[in-house]
Amino acid sequence: MDIAVLGMGHMGQALAGRLLDAGHTVAIWNRTPGRAPDLVAAGASEAPTVGEAVTGVDLALSSLSADDAVREVALGDGGVRAAITDGTAYIDTSTVSPTTSRELEAVIATFAAMPILGPPAGVGGGTATYLLGGNEAATRVVEPVLADLTETVRRYPTAAQASAAKLTANVLLLDAVVALSEATAVGRAGGLDDDQLRELLEGTPLVPGVLGNRFDGVLTGEQEAWWSTALGAKDARLAVELAATAGRDVPATAATRDQLARAADEGPDGADIATVSNVYR
Ligand SMILES: NC(=O)c1ccc[n+]([C@@H]2O[C@H](COP(=O)([O-])OP(=O)(O)OC[C@H]3O[C@@H](n4cnc5c(N)ncnc54)[C@H](OP(=O)(O)O)[C@@H]3O)[C@@H](O)[C@H]2O)c1
Repeated sequence: MDIAVLGMGHMGQALAGRLLDAGHTVAIWNRTPGRAPDLVAAGASEAPTVGEAVTGVDLALSSLSADDAVREVALGDGGVRAAITDGTAYIDTSTVSPTTSRELEAVIATFAAMPILGPPAGVGGGTATYLLGGNEAATRVVEPVLADLTETVRRYPTAAQASAAKLTANVLLLDAVVALSEATAVGRAGGLDDDQLRELLEGTPLVPGVLGNRFDGVLTGEQEAWWSTALGAKDARLAVELAATAGRDVPATAATRDQLARAADEGPDGADIATVSNVYR
C-alpha cells in the first residue's frame, strides 16, 4: 500500500519503520525536515510538504504532539483535508481530545482516529494496542495494514470514543508514575535508602506491571526518554478536561498533570515521564 506518515517524532518514526519493514511504500513528512535519515536510508521518501506527502496515497497517518499540531496539519492551508480526495483515508494516531477527533470525523469523510497504547518500541515490535474509531471509509482501508502493525485492536464506533479510550488508559499509567514517585519520597523521608525501596517494592504486586520498564527510572530520576513529561502533562490535562465535560472532578489526575508540568518546566527538554520523581527530590 502507498502510505504517508506525518510527524517524525518517537512514535511516527517507529510507525513508519514498521510499515517499511512490512513492505509498504512509505512517504514521510516532518515540520522540521531531516529528522529521520535512517528511514530515508531504509527506503522512505521524505516529502517537503504535507500536500506532497499525502497526494495520491491510499492511507495518510499522522503522529503529532497535540491538538493544535493535528488541527494545523489536518485542517490548515495546504493541510491533509485540502490535499486528499476520497481515495485517501486519513487516520490520526496522536493522543488528542475527543473534541478534535470528533471535529475531524465530521469534516473529513475518510477520517478515523487510531491512538496507540504502548511505547515506540512496542510499535516497532508489533506489541502495541491500537484504538480505532471513525468513518467506515477510513477504517476499511486501515484494516489490512493493522494486520502488519499489531495483533491487538480495540474498535469503537466513533473517533471521539477512540480518543476517550486512550485518555482513560493513560490516566492509570500517568497517575501510577506519580504515585510511585510519591511512595519513594515518603520512604526516603522515613530514612529508607534506594536499596531498601527496591527490595520493598520492585517486582511486587504493589507496583503495577505497566511500570515495570520505569521502576528504575522513577527510583533514580534517570531514564532513557521515549514519552516526554510535556506530553504526559498534556495527556493528563486532556483527561481532566474530558471528565469536566461531564461535570466530574478528577483531583488525583489534576495533581498528576501539575507534577508532570512542573517536571517539564524544571527538567531537560524531552525528559521521560519517569523523571517526574525529581520534583520530589
Ligand atoms: N512517546 C510515547 O511513548 C507515546 C505513546 C503513545 C502515544 N503517544 C502520542 O503520540 C504522539 C506523538 O508522540 P511522540 O512521543 O512521537 O512525540 P515527539 O517525539 O515529541 O514528536 C512530536 C512530533 O510532533 C511534531 N509537531 C509538533 N508541533 C507541530 C506543529 N505545530 N505542526 C507540525 N508538527 C508538529 C514534531 O515536529 P518537529 O520535529 O518539527 O518538532 C514531531 O514530529 C503524541 O500525541 C503522543 O501523546 C506517544
